[in-house]
Amino acid sequence: MLRREKPVRSCICYPNTFAELKDEATRQGWTTIEEITAARGCGSGCGACRPYLQKMLETGETAFEVMVPQEVKAFLRRGEHLHNK
Ligand code: FES
Repeated sequence: MLRREKPVRSCICYPNTFAELKDEATRQGWTTIEEITAARGCGSGCGACRPYLQKMLETGETAFEVMVPQEVKAFLRRGEHLHNK
């Protein structure tokens, strides 16, 4: 399937791009969504950015194709969404 959506580059609920969050995570030594959420709020609003935050932490990428439902379900199965909500 061809994806043509614009890249996802930021949290919608809090004014932070993933690039900004990645830089700060590197400086602060953050390795979890919970640390990002505690410091910047991202992930504590609607939660839609949480799978992207996890992927950012795992890969260092800061722009993502919109995740398809199977990718979100895989994230949910892993349980990261249950932390610090
Ligand atoms: S998009 Fe990040 S909390 Fe809503």
